[in-house]
Amino acid sequence: MAVQATRTFYLLIVLSVSSVFYFLSWEHSVENACWKTFSGKLSGKKGNSTPRPVVLTTTLQVKKVVSTKANPLTTPKKHQMSTSTNAAAAESPMPVLSKKSFKKLPKWDFEDVYNQDGRPGQRTCPQSLRNSKDESFKKAFLPNIRLFLHKDNINMSEWNRLSHFNNPFGFMEYKYDDVMPSLKLIPKPTEPLLLPKPGGDGCVRCAVVGTAGILNGSNAGADIDSHDYVFRMNGAVTKGFEEDVGNRTSVYVHTAHSITTSIYLFRRYGYMAAPHSEGIKYVLIPEGMRDFQWLEGLLKGESVRAGPYHKKMPRTYYSGQYNESRFYVLHQDFLRYVRNRFLMSPNLNASFWPIVRPTNGAFTLFLALHTCDIVSAYGFMTEDYSKYSNYYFEKEIKTKVIFYSNHDYNLEKKLWKSLHDRKIFKLYQKSESGPEKPKQR
Ligand SMILES: *[C@@H]1O[C@H](CO)[C@@H](O)[C@H](O)[C@H]1NC(C)=O
Ligand SMILES: *[C@@H]1O[C@H](CO)[C@@H](O)[C@H](O)[C@H]1NC(C)=O
Ligand SMILES: *[C@@H]1O[C@H](CO)[C@@H](O)[C@H](O)[C@H]1NC(C)=O
Ligand SMILES: *[C@@H]1O[C@H](CO)[C@@H](O)[C@H](O)[C@H]1NC(C)=O
Ligand SMILES: *[C@@H]1O[C@H](CO)[C@@H](O)[C@H](O)[C@H]1NC(C)=O
Repeated sequence: MAVQATRTFYLLIVLSVSSVFYFLSWEHSVENACWKTFSGKLSGKKGNSTPRPVVLTTTLQVKKVVSTKANPLTTPKKHQMSTSTNAAAAESPMPVLSKKSFKKLPKWDFEDVYNQDGRPGQRTCPQSLRNSKDESFKKAFLPNIRLFLHKDNINMSEWNRLSHFNNPFGFMEYKYDDVMPSLKLIPKPTEPLLLPKPGGDGCVRCAVVGTAGILNGSNAGADIDSHDYVFRMNGAVTKGFEEDVGNRTSVYVHTAHSITTSIYLFRRYGYMAAPHSEGIKYVLIPEGMRDFQWLEGLLKGESVRAGPYHKKMPRTYYSGQYNESRFYVLHQDFLRYVRNRFLMSPNLNASFWPIVRPTNGAFTLFLALHTCDIVSAYGFMTEDYSKYSNYYFEKEIKTKVIFYSNHDYNLEKKLWKSLHDRKIFKLYQKSESGPEKPKQR
C-alpha cells in the first residue's frame, strides 16, 4: 500500500514517525551559502529541472586549493585514485558546498572513481563470489574497493574530494574543523575485518541477518550460527529468538543513531544493548555530523561534546566490548560505490535527494560481499514481504513495513532477488510450499 503512496505522503511519514532506519541529517543545512559563487561554475544550467544529468567540473577549488595537473580533482580522466600519489598537497579546505544548491544529486566528473587498496592474501575459495561469471556483476564489483576510513587515509586532498558528496557519502556542507579532528582519531585497523579461515576449503562463509519479519518461525537459527561469521545490524535482538535468528554476532554494523535508538525502540522485545559477543567487530557507518561527534567521544573514551548525543558516553553502548583494534569506520567511497553501482534510486533525482541512501542493511550486506567468499542473507526484503511483520521479533501483532522516503526499499528488494537469481549470494525466501532454507554451498 505504502508503495503507491505519493511523495508527499512519504515525507509526511518521514516527518511523523521515528524509526531506527530513519534519519534526516540537516544539522548544518542552511548556514553555508557559498554555492552562489560556485554555481557559476556548473557546466549544466543552474537549478535546471530538465532531466539531463549535470556534469559538474571542480574548478571552484582553484581559489583555495593549490592544484596541479596531477590533482585527481582537476584531472577527471584518471581512473584510479592511486594515480594521485603525485598529487600536490592541497593546503586548505575547499569552500563549503550546500545541499540546497542542488535540485537533485549532482554528478561529478570523478563520481565513479574510488579509492582502492591492494588487500593482500590471495583468495583460494573456488566458489567465491569473486569468481562469479555474471557479466554485469563483474562489471560493477570492485573487489578491492577501500572499505575503511582511518586517520592515515584522510588528508586535505581527500577532504576536498569527499566534500563534493553529501553525507553519508562525503562531507558536503560540513566544516573541516567540525569533522577532521574526529577523523584523525580513527585508528588504522590492525587486522582485516574477517580473518581468513585456516584449513578447510579456504572459503569464508558468512550469514548476514536483517531484521525482517520473514524470519519469524523460520527455524533458521542453527543454519545462521553454522557460518564462519555472522553479520547483524540495527535492532538485532537475538535473546529469545535464537531458534529463528541464531545467537552469534561476529560483526555488528551501526550508526550513532541506530545504536542509541534501538534501545528505546526495541526494549519491549528484549533488546537491552547492541550485540556484544566476545571478540565482536564493530563497524560504524559515518552517516552524518552526529556520527563524527559520537566518534570523538567513543575514541577518546569521553562523553560527546555536542549534538544530539551531548553528554552521552558512547563506550557504555558497547557493553565492555569496545576495543580499538576491533573497531572500523566505513569509507565514504565504499558507501558511494554501493549507491552508484548497485542502488542508484530514481529518488536521487527528486528534491529530497540529500536524504536518499541505501539502508544500513544494504551496506552491511555489501560489506559481507566484499569480505566473505560465500554469503547468505537472512531477514532481508523479499517479494512477499507484505505477508510478514516488519520485524521478526514482532511475533504477536503483524505490523506493516513502512516505506520511508530516505530508502528505496523496492529497489533493494529487487536487487536482492536479482543477486540471488544470479547466484551471487543466497537470499532466504519462503515459497508457498514452505520454507526454503539457504543451503551452504
Ligand atoms: C591523501 O590520501 C590519499 C588516500 O589515502 C592518498 O592517495 C594521497 O596520496 C594522499 N595525498 C597526500 C597529498 O598526502
Ligand atoms: C549459542 O547457542 C549454542 C547452541 O544452543 C550454544 O552452544 C552457544 O553457547 C550459544 N552461544 C552464545 C554466544 O550464546
Ligand atoms: C583488544 O583486542 C585485542 C585483539 O583482540 C587484544 O589483544 C587486546 O588485549 C584487547 N584490549 C583490551 C583492552 O581488551
Ligand atoms: C535522473 O534523470 C536522468 C535523466 O532522466 C537519468 O538519466 C538518470 O538515470 C536519473 N537518475 C536516476 C538515479 O534515476
Ligand atoms: C510468527 O510465527 C508464529 C509461528 O509460526 C505464528 O504463529 C505467528 O502468527 C507469527 N507472527 C506474525 C506476526 O506473523
